[in-house]
Amino acid sequence: MENNRRIITTELTEEDARIENNLRPLSLKEYIGQKKVKENLDVYIKAAKARGEALDHVLFYGPPGLGKTTLAGIIANEMGVNLKVTSGPAIEKPGDMAAILNGLQEGDLLFVDEIHRLNRQVEEVLYPAMEDYAIDIMIGNGTTARSIRLELPKFTLVGATTRAGLLTAPLRDRFGVVSKMEYYTVEELKTIILRSAKVLDVEIEEEGAFELARRSRGTPRLANRLLKRVRDFAQVKYDGRITKEVADFSLNLLDVDKHGLDKNDRLILRTIIEKFGGGPAGVESIAASIGEDAGTLEDVYEPYLIQNGFILRTPRGRMVSETAYEHLGIPLPDKE
Ligand code: ADE
Repeated sequence: MENNRRIITTELTEEDARIENNLRPLSLKEYIGQKKVKENLDVYIKAAKARGEALDHVLFYGPPGLGKTTLAGIIANEMGVNLKVTSGPAIEKPGDMAAILNGLQEGDLLFVDEIHRLNRQVEEVLYPAMEDYAIDIMIGNGTTARSIRLELPKFTLVGATTRAGLLTAPLRDRFGVVSKMEYYTVEELKTIILRSAKVLDVEIEEEGAFELARRSRGTPRLANRLLKRVRDFAQVKYDGRITKEVADFSLNLLDVDKHGLDKNDRLILRTIIEKFGGGPAGVESIAASIGEDAGTLEDVYEPYLIQNGFILRTPRGRMVSETAYEHLGIPLPDKE
C-alpha cells in the first residue's frame, strides 16, 4: 500500500519525533485523554512510590500514534527514574538485551517499542528478567556448559505494541498492567491541538482547532503533524492565523477528507465495494487485494473504520456500511 510521504500516515517520521519531543506532556496531569489508563496508572505510580518499589511491568497496546511512548516518558518522570528507550527490531541478539538490562539502575524504566518484533531468543532473556530480576547466562559449551544467574536491579519494563495479537503468551503474562489505548474524541484532540498551538506559538481559532481535530483520525500524532502543515498554509496563503477556513483549505489540499480518512482508508473501503460487492469479505482477501498483510489491516487500519461505522464486522466477514458509500459518493447498490 502507498506509504511513502503520506501526510496522514500514522507511522512515526523523523520530523514527528522532533515535534513530539517538543509537544510531549511530562506529567499525567498535562496528558489529555485515555482517562481510564491514566486513572489506573496514577494509582499504581502512587502505590509503588509509597512502597519505594519499582512499578510493575506495563504493556500498552493499540493503534499507532495514540501516545504510548509519551506515557512511558511520563511514568519515568512521575516515578523520578531514568528512561531508557529501545525497540523490538533494534535488539538482535540475546547478549544485546542482557547488556541493556545489566546497564539499568534500581527503579529504571526500560521502554521497548514494537515489542512484538523481539525475536524468540531475545524474548527469552526477558522472562527471568521480568519475573525474578535476573538473567541466566550460559558459559562454556558442550558438556561443560552451565548457566550462571546474574542479579539485576529492580526495574520496570514498559512495552508498546500495535499488534497485541502477535505477542506470545509467556511475554504477555509477565506484564502486571496491560492497557489498551483508545482513539481520542474530537474534543480531546481539540484540547491537544490548542495546547500544541500554544507551545508552537501559532494563533488558532476554536473553529480552526475543531476542524483539525475532526479530521485527525482520532490520533494526536496526526493532529500535531497536520497542525504544523496547516500553520505553513496559514502563514504563506493567509495572515498566519488558523481559522476554520484556513484549516479546511489546507486539509483539502493535503487530501485529508472530512472524516480524516486517508488514501489507504478510502482504498480499503473502495476495494470492499468494487471487488467484493460491498462484502461480506474475509480480512485475508481484502488484505491481499490491497497488498497489505491481514494483521496490519486488522490492527492498524480497521479499528478506526469500524469504530466510526464505515466497516461492519459480521460473522461472514467485513461489510462496508451505507455511510461508507455516502462518504465516497458511490451510489448504494439496489437491494434485491
Ligand atoms: N500531545 C500528544 N499527545 C498528547 C496527549 N495525550 N496529551 C497532551 N498532549 C499531547
